[in-house]
Amino acid sequence: MNKKYSYYLLHKKIDSMAKFLNLDKITQGEKNSVAQIRSYFKINDWAYRHYHSQDGFMHFRISPNGFFSDNDVYYQPDTVSQYIKPGDVVMELGFGQGANLLYLAHCHPDARFIGVDLSPLKKNKVCPENVTTYQLDYSDLSQFEDNSVDVMYAFETIVHNTDKEKIYREVHRVLKPGGVIIVFDYALRARYETYDEKIQKAIALISKGGAAAMIESLEELNGHYANCGLTLEKSVDHTKEVLPDLKRLERKAAKVLERPWLAKMMFLFLPEQFVSNIILGYLGYDLGNAETGTYHEWIIRKPE
Ligand SMILES: C[S@@+](CC[C@H](N)C(=O)[O-])C[C@H]1O[C@@H](n2cnc3c(N)ncnc32)[C@H](O)[C@@H]1O
Repeated sequence: MNKKYSYYLLHKKIDSMAKFLNLDKITQGEKNSVAQIRSYFKINDWAYRHYHSQDGFMHFRISPNGFFSDNDVYYQPDTVSQYIKPGDVVMELGFGQGANLLYLAHCHPDARFIGVDLSPLKKNKVCPENVTTYQLDYSDLSQFEDNSVDVMYAFETIVHNTDKEKIYREVHRVLKPGGVIIVFDYALRARYETYDEKIQKAIALISKGGAAAMIESLEELNGHYANCGLTLEKSVDHTKEVLPDLKRLERKAAKVLERPWLAKMMFLFLPEQFVSNIILGYLGYDLGNAETGTYHEWIIRKPE
């Protein structure tokens, strides 16, 4: 679909939702404190399993051939896999339901895996012996020693946090010299202020809907790790390849948001962090297709 048409659709969707939802009320208020991030993932646990993956992968699928396939969920962990060597210490920031951690630990029985998340790993997960998980905020990794980790990875998690430099300072401290962090996340192509009022509203709704800090531009994100002494080895734009997954989620969200009476009832009776997640699904495809939102892979190194 033409990018200009998606831009037009975003305006139209904001206008139409504004007729039956108080969009200002949805975007106002406290955003993304650690307590809010934790409660968002608790409330949306079922939705992630139901709409993303029953195996517990919580990130978007990267579909290189343009068609959605369940197996595309392995793109991100398979990318990390290429950087793991026997004997390595590997740390996942924000392991979610643990699917990447358990998958990679099985693929690399000779490496040691550490997972860190605000929520504990579910009790029903069978954890391989080479995995240890910690329930903590990864902005403070003080229980881990300097220069102790070979490979780190973070999929769609740093976006939730306001102080990204605090995170990258810790990444720089615990990574061994020459160590690498692989990040997959979404961002804006240009700074928030450069967009018109309705696109700004769409960005604010998407940020709020996904319990993200206000989504930042590529330029801002690149500044954060660079300011902490980390260097970019490679950056890949995967926006087009996540569109099939975003389209799938948009169709499901439209079933609610294109029925004003249903949306109104849901906003009245269901938790706000559940229903505003549906708005994220409704707007995400057009934001990506309009080349306003972007989904990137970053390979970032601590210099030797
Ligand atoms: C969208 S989920 C992604 C989960 C996993 N990376 C995946 O791809 O399946 C984001 C996860 O990051 C975690 N998270 C966000 N901010 C965090 C923080 N500051 N410290 C620890 N975990 C955090 C959340 O609790 C959530 O489980």
